[in-house]
Amino acid sequence: MPIRPDAERVPPLDLRPELEALWEPLSEAALRVLQSGRFVLGPEVEAFETEAAEFLDVKHAVGLNSGTDALVIGLRCLGVEPGDEVITTPFSFFATAEAISSLGAIPVFVDIEPDSFNIDVSAIESAITARTRALLPVHLFGRPADMTSIEPVAARHDLRVLEDCAQSIGARIGDRATGGLGDAGAFSFYPTKNLGGVGDGGLLTTNEAGVAETARMLRNHGERSRYNNEMLGYNSRLDAMQAALLRVKLEHLESANAGRREAAARYGELLDPVEGIEAPEVTVGHVFHQYTVRILEGRRDEVRECLDAKGIGTMVYYPIPIHRLPVYAECYAGIELPASEAAAAEVLSLPIWPEIEEETQVRVVDSIRQALASV
Ligand SMILES: Cc1ncc(COP(=O)(O)O)c(C=O)c1O
Repeated sequence: MPIRPDAERVPPLDLRPELEALWEPLSEAALRVLQSGRFVLGPEVEAFETEAAEFLDVKHAVGLNSGTDALVIGLRCLGVEPGDEVITTPFSFFATAEAISSLGAIPVFVDIEPDSFNIDVSAIESAITARTRALLPVHLFGRPADMTSIEPVAARHDLRVLEDCAQSIGARIGDRATGGLGDAGAFSFYPTKNLGGVGDGGLLTTNEAGVAETARMLRNHGERSRYNNEMLGYNSRLDAMQAALLRVKLEHLESANAGRREAAARYGELLDPVEGIEAPEVTVGHVFHQYTVRILEGRRDEVRECLDAKGIGTMVYYPIPIHRLPVYAECYAGIELPASEAAAAEVLSLPIWPEIEEETQVRVVDSIRQALASV
């Protein structure tokens, strides 16, 4: 059985309840893979791809080695080439921009909406130039970006759209899942994600047969048929072990996401009377990969330290906007993106997982109240 963490502390994420609930089917799936002798791609991966495509309501799903690879391969499949500009958000995990730069393309950062933490669509059009090839919105923390407004902008300027769905599996706008809203979607199965493996894994989704075909080639050294390499690709194949375990977890993803939404609604009620903190809106299609509040008046770091002393683990996603990271700082020194910078200074992600108990949430919010009173 999984190792028990320190019972006194509330971790930012507890994977144990899900593992315990699914221990038997996960063990059976792992054994099945060991006994099969097929460890890379193969029938487990094919079955997972079919099931994931069905769950996400897309025509094609291609299993890959990581979410980062899904972004890189997705951009290549959509025709992004060296020197092209790709418009994205600076308030994301570094991999979003890294994928663009790794292809020799140029990330163009547009600021975020303060409420959703997602790309501000009203600022996209003025960032478009003759070299813009694609848009790369991120559905940050599990809340879909405003794809309803992004789609017409992309259509008007003939741009491709790759969705960064690393944090948003199962999130929807109306009845359409993220990953099927743009031209392609990049998912991550890093263990802490809403659908997490036991190592790295990723997926590219698309409704275009040509995009899926190129992705299948790129993940396997540019091969269409064995030892007949047609392009420079990668070793980015999904392992059978990951696929088999993800198949088990995928069956429970909808209820796990519902559990996260319930926990988010409960936090909202508990935090409502607390001053000095801004809670996120609990929107219908949000899957709350993170429950991220703002701690106002420059008190975030002190509050976080105080919570840590009380045994409450929190996280800061992300403390530095991407354009200010050392790797990019010089290049983007003249750029001001105030909403992203303010978010980086104020955000705090509270403990959340599908099975989090009400008493744990009450303890978290009581501790926040005490922390805010003492700093
Ligand atoms: C928004 C975002 N994009 C991309 C990635 C990269 O995914 P991976 O860690 O699977 O490479 C992650 C996760 O780590 C992420 O959160």
